[in-house]
This record gives sequence, structure tokens and C-alpha cells, in this order.
Amino acid sequence: MIDRHVRIYEVGPRDGLQNEGAPIPTEAKLRFIDLLADAGLREIETTSFVAPRAVPQLADADDLMSRLERRPGVRYPVLVPNERGLARAEAAGVDAVCVFTAASEAFTKANINMTIAESIDAFRPVVARARERGWWSRGYVSTAFGCPYQGEVGEAAVVGVARQLVELGVEEISIGDTIGVAVPGDVRRVVRALLSAGIGADRLAMHFHDTRGTALANVAAALDLGIRCFDASTGGTGGCPYAPGAAGNLATEDLVYLLDREGLSHGVDLDALLVAAQHVSRTLGRPLSTKVGQAGGWRVP
Ligand code: HMG
Ligand code: MG
Repeated sequence: MIDRHVRIYEVGPRDGLQNEGAPIPTEAKLRFIDLLADAGLREIETTSFVAPRAVPQLADADDLMSRLERRPGVRYPVLVPNERGLARAEAAGVDAVCVFTAASEAFTKANINMTIAESIDAFRPVVARARERGWWSRGYVSTAFGCPYQGEVGEAAVVGVARQLVELGVEEISIGDTIGVAVPGDVRRVVRALLSAGIGADRLAMHFHDTRGTALANVAAALDLGIRCFDASTGGTGGCPYAPGAAGNLATEDLVYLLDREGLSHGVDLDALLVAAQHVSRTLGRPLSTKVGQAGGWRVP
């Protein structure tokens, strides 16, 4: 039987905002997170416990987490790159953590100043603590479809890193098209390789950036292969400071529209989500650039 339910994993407060140059008040971020929960999102990646110098926009992570009013039934994962980040996350009372590495050495070095092997070692105590404490955990494999420094990335590299994250014990792997170069054929190639390696579709999420307008086509390809979790950013913001050329994430509102019309359930209300998208637009002082943000949903006459 085909599973008709899709998980939408919101990354707006973290991936969406991390690349913004102008400081965003913590208060505005908290309001954004509340509006996302109002819209029905149940997984909201909230911030990162990384070096403040590496991502100044998220330097308020400790303050933000201490002021966040957590709602029952909503998961608020945070990014943690090392033991220092783990200590901060633990002090903030988190119960969901993400570690993040990549399928290319050059990006891993630029992003977290580690080799892929060193990153796996750095994550070991983080994931071990998560398991010990019963926290939910996720591992990211960035540049799975192309690297801004190395170029093409083969599926064997993606599978190799994903396997190591599975062995560490993370519950879910998110496969990232960090610079938005993938097309559906690439998605089929990479996802089939992961499935063939024994990593089940129920443990996989896809993280598309819409840099070249292919994100929704890639979602459709992944849906056909049984993937049922997609990362998206309300307002379509996003990008990584260490991935030159990376533009916005797949917009949550565009994803919701597609899933609604495809008859797939996800629990998010489009009109309420557009309120959150408008909040992002006002906060950043620029109009929404997302398709559904501009056109709205379709009110069938
Ligand atoms: P480093 O410079 O090699 O580390 O950075 P270090 O251990 O030498 O530390 C340097 C300084 O940072 C020290 O401070 C540390 O104390 C401090 P100083 O002594 O110079 O004052 N430090 C920390 N402070 C707070 N929290 C910490 C922490 N760790 C060290 N956790 C490091 C290595 C990993 C720390 C750094 O490179 C870093 O934080 N990188 C994060 C980069 C990042 O967040 N990138 C964006 C997220 S990934 C992404 O967007 C892709 C994704 O969306 C999926 C996709 O699209 O593909 C997930
Ligand atoms: Mg990203």
C-alpha cells in the first residue's frame, strides 16, 4: 500500500536565516517559530550550536532556546557540530540534535574545518549522548549532488558517508542538494543507490535547495521512490555561508501546495503558513520570492 502521509521538516529558522547578513532580533525568530507551529508544522529546526564566528546570525542560539515556548508534540531540532556544541545544547534542554557532514572533502573542510573522517569522529560523542538521553537524532550529508569546490559528486561517496552516519546511530539521514544542482535523474540515481545499500526510505529525508528551480521536480522523483520526508523553508530563504552559489531552500509553501494537490497528507495549513511566510518577508524587509507566496493557493471557483 502506498503511504499517503508526508513529513515536512521545516528548516526556515536555521537554514533559512543562517545566511542572512543583517542581524535578526531573537524576538522575530521566536515569533516565526510560533507561527510555523500554528500552521501545523511539527518538526521545526530551530537554530545551531556552532561557533558564533562561523555563523554570526545564529549566535543567539542559547538565548533563543531558553526563551522558546516549546509546544507538546512539536520537535525542535538543533545543529551540533562537536562536543562544545553538545554541552551548549544540553544546557539548553534540547531533545533533538542534528550532526552535519558532506559527501565531498572540500566542502566539509570549508564548512566545519574537518575531513569527513574527522567529522564522523567528532559526531560520535554527540550521537552517543543523544541515544543515551533518548533524543531524536539526524545526520546530514551535504553536497550529495554536487560540490561548489569539487564539482560532480558520485553516489558511492554519498552512500559511504550515509552508511557511517547510520553506524553512528542517527535515526534519520537527510540528503542535501546544498547548491541546488540536482535534477530528477540525479535523485533517482542517488536514492536508488542508498536503498540498494540497505538504507530504507523510512530513514531518509531529502533536502533540496531551489537554486535552479528544480526542487519540486526533485521532490516528485523522490516521492515516486517512496521517500516521505522533505526539508523545506517557509519564505524560501536559505543557503550556507560556506557554499558559494547556494540560494534558497525549497519553499515550504510551494511544497505544501504540491502535496495538497497530489492528495498527500502532511498536517500543514497553507493559509496559516503564508502568514508565517509574510512574517519572514516583513522581518527581512523584502517581498516573498516564492511561487505560492506570490500567487497564493488556488481557490477553486
Ligand atoms: P574550528 O575553527 O576548526 O574549531 O571550527 P575550533 O575548535 O578551533 O574553535 C574555534 C573557535 O570556535 C574557538 O573559540 C572555539 O571555542 C569556538 P576561540 O577560542 O577562538 O574564541 N567553538 C565554538 N563555540 C561555540 N559553539 C561551538 C563551538 N565550537 C568551537 N559548538 C567548527 C570548527 C565546527 C566549530 C566551525 O567550523 C563551525 O561552527 N562551523 C559551522 C558551520 C555551519 O554551521 N554551517 C552551516 C550549516 S551546514 C548547512 O547549512 C548544510 C545543510 O543545510 C544541508 C545542505 O544544505 O546540504 C545542513
Ligand atoms: Mg541547506
